[in-house]
Amino acid sequence: MSNDAEHPRTVLITGASAGIGKALAHVFAQNDFDVVLVARREEKLNEVAEAIKKQYGQMAYVLIENLADPAAPQRIFDWCQQQHLSIDALVNNAGYALHNEFLEAPWQAHMDFLQVLNISVVQLCHLFAPAMKERGYGRIINLASVAAWSPQLKGNLYGAAKSFIVDFSQAIDLELHPHGVHCTALCPGFTFSEFHDVMGTRGQVSKLPRFLWMTAEEVAQEGFDAVMEGKPVHVPGRVNQGLTQVMSMLPSSVKHYLSKQQKVM
Ligand SMILES: NC(=O)c1ccc[n+]([C@@H]2O[C@H](COP(=O)([O-])OP(=O)(O)OC[C@H]3O[C@@H](n4cnc5c(N)ncnc54)[C@H](OP(=O)(O)O)[C@@H]3O)[C@@H](O)[C@H]2O)c1
Repeated sequence: MSNDAEHPRTVLITGASAGIGKALAHVFAQNDFDVVLVARREEKLNEVAEAIKKQYGQMAYVLIENLADPAAPQRIFDWCQQQHLSIDALVNNAGYALHNEFLEAPWQAHMDFLQVLNISVVQLCHLFAPAMKERGYGRIINLASVAAWSPQLKGNLYGAAKSFIVDFSQAIDLELHPHGVHCTALCPGFTFSEFHDVMGTRGQVSKLPRFLWMTAEEVAQEGFDAVMEGKPVHVPGRVNQGLTQVMSMLPSSVKHYLSKQQKVM
């Protein structure tokens, strides 16, 4: 997997302090990538970095950034340039969901949400993909969700934001794949992580049956394999694959009806 023994490849992962991002950091490091770990919580990132250095002997860099700050993507890119790090793989994983209905949340909360979930993703691709294209090698994973297909939650931007990621990832894969740069929209379903604690829905989702859940490690391994194989969209797990296939065949009137019945996803 390495470029050569002296220059291992490097992956930059946002939201690497927990959950799927942390698991992806381990999978990439296991496959000989050095890692650049980005998130807000320094202590958690340092723990991940130490574990990676110890377990795989790869370099692990920590960068503290809040992706809700519109200046963050450019700062991340400039920092990599200053460190003379060429980024061969990019994982746009940082994310969360708001649990409010649309009009309940203040505008700033929606702005921050779209900045983290969509705008920073597009800008980081725009910043890092040109050098990947020039070198003829790049791997990009953008975290979407089965929510891109599922009935909508009342007023919630999450499904819309993740649909955008699925469409955007396919579009840039079409452009970049001929130049050796693969882009995959990774679309997990319910995954054990801190996601539902942050969202405040842990109580409700913990009642869901175990077969609906995957571990972050399972999702990460499938995501890594999918981008290496060059799949533009990947839904991890048979149950999630079945659900998305059914949902994509439903007429919009049925989806709308189901959306009206929904309380929590
Ligand atoms: N878990 C699920 O059921 C599920 C299902 C489908 C899709 N997903 C998607 O998978 C991705 C990862 O979620 P997860 O389940 O691993 O959740 P998680 O355990 O809560 O991890 C989220 C990560 O995002 C980072 N993050 C959040 N806001 C950030 C910000 N403003 N700036 C920088 N980093 C930020 C967090 O780090 P800090 O708090 O340290 O900043 C953390 O590392 C998300 O895009 C999520 O939408 C999750």
